[in-house]
Amino acid sequence: MNWATLCPAETIAPGQSRGFDPLGSGRASLFVVNWQGQWRAWEDWCPHWQTGPMAWRKDAYWSGDGQALACHAHGARFDPLTGLCTLGPCLGQSLRSVPLRQDTQGWLQVDTAGLHAIRNEEPTGSDTFNQGDTT
Ligand code: FES
Repeated sequence: MNWATLCPAETIAPGQSRGFDPLGSGRASLFVVNWQGQWRAWEDWCPHWQTGPMAWRKDAYWSGDGQALACHAHGARFDPLTGLCTLGPCLGQSLRSVPLRQDTQGWLQVDTAGLHAIRNEEPTGSDTFNQGDTT
């Protein structure tokens, strides 16, 4: 486990999302959603082309109706709590979950040990992902 602190939980309102770059890759490698009183963290990675980003602009991970997560490359929709694709070219496939917890001070933390979202890009700076790793 390699826990990274993101932000106070209350700064992401119900029905909202926010991207984070805990590895300093230069773009969001994961995003956190607050949906129906629950929190989830997902890699910013779409199972369709197995890459990201999914958002059309910073932190824009929701569908137009605000009822599903969306990949804006080809319009796939995902259940915010299960990550399952419910419509689009990757129907039946899922987003990758990132372990998430809230510390005693109310800050959200994620385990970055298994984070893969940027692996299809050229390594930069301190990027330690293995190119070609498919796990
Ligand atoms: S890359 Fe996400 S829907 Fe095509």
